[in-house]
Amino acid sequence: MDNNARENFGSKIGAVLAAAGSAVGLGNIWRFPIEVGTNGGAAFIIVYVGCVLLLGIPIMMSEFLIGRHTQANTAGAYRMLAPGTPWRWVGRLGVLSGFVILSYYSVVAGWTAEYTVLAIGNSFDGKSAADFPQIFSRFVSNPWLSVAWMLAFMVITHVIVVRGVKSGIEKFSKLMMPALFVILIVLAVCSVTLPGASQGLEFLLKPDFSKITGTMVLRAMGQAFFSLSLGLGCLCTYASYFNRETNIGKTALSVSLIDTMVAIMSGFIIFPAVFNAGYMLDRSDIGPSLLFITMPNVFGQAFGNMPVLAYAVSVLFYFLLMLAALTSTISMHEVVTAYVSEEFDMNRRKAATVVTIACSVVGGLCALSFGPFEGVKIFGMTLFDLFDYVASNIMLPVGGMLIAIFTGWYLDKKVVRDEITNNGSLRARYLPVVVFILKYIAPVAIACILFGQLGLF
Ligand code: PHE
Repeated sequence: MDNNARENFGSKIGAVLAAAGSAVGLGNIWRFPIEVGTNGGAAFIIVYVGCVLLLGIPIMMSEFLIGRHTQANTAGAYRMLAPGTPWRWVGRLGVLSGFVILSYYSVVAGWTAEYTVLAIGNSFDGKSAADFPQIFSRFVSNPWLSVAWMLAFMVITHVIVVRGVKSGIEKFSKLMMPALFVILIVLAVCSVTLPGASQGLEFLLKPDFSKITGTMVLRAMGQAFFSLSLGLGCLCTYASYFNRETNIGKTALSVSLIDTMVAIMSGFIIFPAVFNAGYMLDRSDIGPSLLFITMPNVFGQAFGNMPVLAYAVSVLFYFLLMLAALTSTISMHEVVTAYVSEEFDMNRRKAATVVTIACSVVGGLCALSFGPFEGVKIFGMTLFDLFDYVASNIMLPVGGMLIAIFTGWYLDKKVVRDEITNNGSLRARYLPVVVFILKYIAPVAIACILFGQLGLF
């Protein structure tokens, strides 16, 4: 592999926005509110924030330092740092996780594109609450439509990845992330100023501590890994394009903060609007359909006397979802593309094409699991649900645990110190705490939560 031919992010802000673009995605706007709603409101948020602080940030720093030190794709990074040892499987597991997540994630990303088009065409206007479940189920069960949207999304991702790190990933992140923040703020203001918003906020924020169980903690941890894009070497790959001046600790903190804020703000957008529209949400009826069945109706109801506003808000909302999904699919694609390109010595375009084709085939099967393959169950789950469950609750935490053990125990302390302090030019007084967490707390905590829940203790 020729390291000199590798590109770098052109600026610090570009690097932060690209990493934040990876982190901020459907996980924040689609998955987080569902998890919060079904797992005890603020009690979940508290456990979640605990997982981000205690596990997320230190593991993100590990991924960053491994990536930047080796300047290689995630599998290559472990091969370089621990040649001839089984550690290379950590990188390979990451690439596999990236592949699996990209495949099913693109299906939901495709839904966001379809709904953006529906919103632009003003198709939600004049529909009643009873129409939306039908619109959604007709759409997802239509094999051609959902496969076509998944493919369209995959192709857009492909085009951006092929353009490269600086003029593809960085340029798009710099453009899309600020747009996303603006839309998010506009929508949150619209939503919390609606009459009756306080009920929605109460639903989101009122803690139900009786919900803190082993399963809930596992879900909060899985959500943290998923939302921060941790455990699969995504951020390790991005960090391989960081330049030597990037402050790893500060970048990890910024990315985690941005990601958590976006997740909480999404709750501020969704729940007040849902309650305003008169939905008395029961915690048991929040599911993946929240964004695609409840929300289109909510906009019409909440802003019913101002059709233009209802139109604008729904277009912005689905556009926001689509942008967020796109910056994340780009990062997953990049993990696998960088691996294929560097490990199999292919040029970027060819590697990306192989990845796009392979992910499209598996993504197609996931899309069909809402239609013709609905009855095909593995461990009682459709392929889509199985991938989501296994990737976020098992593969990512296992990946995260191994990354923590690798950095805490195996990696040369000097490498860790040099990367975190930029060869001694930064103070980084938090370093001993981070090392302690990576050595003891993260592996033990993840193992207890994970294996405890899987019934392996
Ligand atoms: N973090 C992304 C989200 O919240 C999903 C993701 C997971 C992206 C893993 C990359 C790697 O939607």
